[in-house]
Amino acid sequence: MVLSYGDGVGVYRSHLFGSPAIIGCSPEFNKFVFQSHDLFPIKWPTIELLGCTSIVAVDGKSHTRIRSYVSNAINKPDALKRVTSLVQPIIINSLRSWAEKGQVKAVNEVKKITFGNIGSMFVSFKPGPLLDMLDQDFAGLLRGVRAQPSKLPGTAYSHAVQCRKRLMAVFRKELEKRKRSSDLSDENNDLMDGLIKMKDEEGKLLGDEEEENMAASKKGDFITREELAELKNTNKVVEETIRLANIAPIVFRVAKEDAIYQGYKIPKGWNVALWIRYIHTDPKNFVDPMSFDPERWNNPPKPGTYQVFGEGPRICAGNMLARIQLCIFLHHLVTGYKWELINPDAKITYLPHPRPDDGVEIAFSTL
Ligand code: HEM
Repeated sequence: MVLSYGDGVGVYRSHLFGSPAIIGCSPEFNKFVFQSHDLFPIKWPTIELLGCTSIVAVDGKSHTRIRSYVSNAINKPDALKRVTSLVQPIIINSLRSWAEKGQVKAVNEVKKITFGNIGSMFVSFKPGPLLDMLDQDFAGLLRGVRAQPSKLPGTAYSHAVQCRKRLMAVFRKELEKRKRSSDLSDENNDLMDGLIKMKDEEGKLLGDEEEENMAASKKGDFITREELAELKNTNKVVEETIRLANIAPIVFRVAKEDAIYQGYKIPKGWNVALWIRYIHTDPKNFVDPMSFDPERWNNPPKPGTYQVFGEGPRICAGNMLARIQLCIFLHHLVTGYKWELINPDAKITYLPHPRPDDGVEIAFSTL
């Protein structure tokens, strides 16, 4: 017998992004989908915004090749050592400048830091007007990727399309410049150089780089990759922040064939949206889920209930990078500074990602 509704097993029918859809919101169902990747391949409803040949669009061998490169370049132990050196001066200098200003909107400032880090790691762009423009366009692009793909002017999607055009123009120009340059790797040695090389020599990974590129005079302030791993309490705060921030609320798949899950039919061609934010805010999985409680990480979460980075062969390729950046930031923040919320009762907006309405305005000073 095939049943019609999935209440109780965490599977629902709906209509999303212009096509019939199954919504998954139980750890077991999501796991079933994440692990049956041949039956449920990835399918973003707005893939043209992300790029039809990007890592999140391609499958099979192309996916394995690009994923292995990206993950080696940003998420493996050697890469993480490099990241630790690269991002610390940026974080430390930014926190100093917050203290000089005395009052900042933390969300905007943190975004500047993380975007600066990404700009530096991926394309060696330094902070300045170009990076600020990319930051704005990237934010516009992000607002469109989980929105209804409507070309009507004024919609989040149509704005995102314009943002993507501008972003692509900048990257294309940079790519052309590098292709013309004969001495590619000496100049940048970033992710873009690696991707260019990968096209030329299949499967080539980034070579070993200099480990320390920090300013020697500031060395005393830095923390090493090994020391970061020992910051047990900070790492609990990192996990709790990522759980509650839920920056990837849904991930997208499609049913390649008819499938049955615990008696419920998932018809071929239907979208399958895994609503992972639901899992992280379900009291069945986390006690008092909306409260920020790092102590809950004294024990591991129930099996399958922590899917913030997805699961299976498409698990987030930057999960350790994200964790490390957050850990470094928190370490320098709490050991050097104090702050107070200007609007302690500020409301939180949840779409597309949770964020306080006032941008977390804080009074900020050194300890
Ligand atoms: C807290 C921060 C982050 C969260 C919560 C997050 C979450 C996710 C999730 C849920 C997926 C799986 C999508 C799916 O299964 O369809 C994913 C994929 C991915 N993430 Fe992240 N991510 C984060 C940070 C990052 C960072 C910093 C990078 C790189 C700089 C990154 C790069 C990627 C890539 C390349 C994929 C695609 C992997 C593939 O399809 O093989 N992520 N991320």
